[in-house]
Amino acid sequence: MSEIKQIQLNFEEKFRDISSKEDLQILKTEFFGKNGLISTQFKKMGSLNENEKKIFANDLNNLKDFVTEKIENKFKEFEDLIINEKLKGEKIDVTLPIRSRSNGKIHPVSQVIDEISSIFSEIGFSVVEGPDVESEYNNFTALNTPEDHPARDMHDTFYLDEKKKTLLRTHTSPVQIRTMMKGKPPFKIIVPGRTYRCDSDQTHAPMFHQLEGLHIDKGINMGHLKGCLNYFIKEFFEVKNIKMRFRPSHFPFTEPSAEVDIGYRLKDGKIVIGEGDKWLEILGCGMVHPNVLKNTKVDAKKFQGFAFGIGIDRLAMLKYGINDLRAFFETDYRWLNHYGFDPLDVPTNYRGLSR
Ligand code: PHE
Repeated sequence: MSEIKQIQLNFEEKFRDISSKEDLQILKTEFFGKNGLISTQFKKMGSLNENEKKIFANDLNNLKDFVTEKIENKFKEFEDLIINEKLKGEKIDVTLPIRSRSNGKIHPVSQVIDEISSIFSEIGFSVVEGPDVESEYNNFTALNTPEDHPARDMHDTFYLDEKKKTLLRTHTSPVQIRTMMKGKPPFKIIVPGRTYRCDSDQTHAPMFHQLEGLHIDKGINMGHLKGCLNYFIKEFFEVKNIKMRFRPSHFPFTEPSAEVDIGYRLKDGKIVIGEGDKWLEILGCGMVHPNVLKNTKVDAKKFQGFAFGIGIDRLAMLKYGINDLRAFFETDYRWLNHYGFDPLDVPTNYRGLSR
């Protein structure tokens, strides 16, 4: 029997007993490794004459192809086996019942803050925050509200020290000061946050939420303010037509100043926005007072702009038909379950805010 035939028989015998990928690898090395049974045969070629070489090379190549094919196929078999084993362990039973959703709900105030942020970010406002504990300077003085100004009493301030130097901010307007002190114009920001006044009844709570808006740039006028608020109210209440009126008002930090009412009517005890002849006050606004710009080192000859302050809780009550503000802060889970929002349903403009 030729040596090549012997090698083949030898291979076939060993191949029959292979039971793992590792064994197969060892067998492969035995035949094809550097000093493997087949590899060494090739080295013999040099010592043969032309005729012998032809026959030998032919037989050897056949053997090589035969063994290679067997080994490759077997490798594939082992790999399929391994994958199938793995799949068995990883399969999902699609008939299993779904997991129940978490019980947590998003508070209407948080929901409304997300909605408002989404609306304003669409037209280029960025969201900024400030601390609840403020200096008397940022909360009043820098906002053109000197010590003897009557607006200070109207704010029912919670002071935190006897000298009345620190306080719980009575509005989000001090973040206007912080922002303008820190950066360079233009500014285009909104500031949602907690605010505090010593006041409590059905529509007032000692802690409530405001949203400040500030847009400072070259050539900003009252028309921009009006357009901006008009856009916001339409988007927020998701109505095409909105009735809005600007009433002259007074804030020390804006000149001229206005309060904005929106028109509504009552239908079966519910508020319908954009129709009817009743008016509801929802925000204060105006053109930023030159003194405020001066206090924050903004060149009032080059830059001007508008600011507004919206009562967030009020907006939430209106939009979601909640009639007592105090319920917001009572942490009653039954109430939250009823009025709260799904945590996965993040509001966006394009998808609709309050689905
Ligand atoms: N800070 C004012 C308030 O709390 C609202 C306001 C903000 C008015 C900005 C004008 C401009 O009543």
